Amino acid sequence: MGESGTNVGTSSLEDGAAGLLNEEVFVEEKTGEPGISTMMMNFENKFDPYGAVNTPLYQTATFKQPSAIENGPYDYTRSGNPTRHALESLPAKLDKADRALCFTSGMAALSEEIVAGDDMYGSSDRLLSQVLPKRGVVVKRVNTCDLNEVASAIGPRTKLVWLESPTNPRLQISDIRKIAEIAHAHGVLVLVDNSIMSPVLYQPLELGADIVMHSATKFIARHSDLMAGVLAVKGERLGKELYFLQNAEGSGLAPFDTLLARNQETLSYDLDRGHEFKIFENSFFTCKIKVFTLSGPTKWESCAFDRLY
Ligand SMILES: Cc1ncc(COP(=O)(O)O)c(C=O)c1O
Repeated sequence: MGESGTNVGTSSLEDGAAGLLNEEVFVEEKTGEPGISTMMMNFENKFDPYGAVNTPLYQTATFKQPSAIENGPYDYTRSGNPTRHALESLPAKLDKADRALCFTSGMAALSEEIVAGDDMYGSSDRLLSQVLPKRGVVVKRVNTCDLNEVASAIGPRTKLVWLESPTNPRLQISDIRKIAEIAHAHGVLVLVDNSIMSPVLYQPLELGADIVMHSATKFIARHSDLMAGVLAVKGERLGKELYFLQNAEGSGLAPFDTLLARNQETLSYDLDRGHEFKIFENSFFTCKIKVFTLSGPTKWESCAFDRLY
């Protein structure tokens, strides 16, 4: 489809877009399962008694209980809110996770000893190099593209391997499947920061990761009007542990912010448009890397989003 050249005619772009849609219909017919776009259009709202087709905003801190001795499904927004739960149901499906939790930012809870990538987003880097060591957490930084480096850094006290793939800023790729095998052989969890790819394009839980983190500020929210994060996990026990922390810290995403992130419904279409631009501009990613190299990450992100709209 002319991936390598800039002279791509409009008709081949149209063919490409039609191809993506047909592919989705084909997957649905073949598997009987809804495709990604269908899933996203059917936003979870079973909890709503009036059958609203859009997610209602439950802008309330507390919920009335049926009686003094009975509990309703929600009591306090810190512990749970229907608007937040509606949003959490979607990345859980896309990431094929057992549970997803939405936070006020992309950063998560951390423990005793961590093996982490050496090329990571700036604030992850600040957290790992300057905040956690002061709180007694041992952090070992390695090149996660090198499996030997990962294997030799894991010790008896290691609890977590945390990596980005592709990394921000250098867009390096690691072998998540092999890293998960190595880590699991030592009883260590693997967390993949998937903010660069989105849950539509890449599902690290399928490759063996235990926790996926998304900066929802990026592709999930997309309009640069919100800061939010998602953790999607495999396993009920891990889901419960993270929920316990979310509730204890009060770091769950507020209902109004949750509503701002609801435009996930069109995420896969917006990403398809990004792909059209990729074809049109020779390489969407090459373009991003070039602008990033020249101007730094903020400009890089705005360049990426400019091209999605
Ligand atoms: C790869 C990556 N992870 C995490 C974050 C942090 O996300 P947030 O600002 O939503 O907490 C960013 C922000 O740019 C990022 O690029």
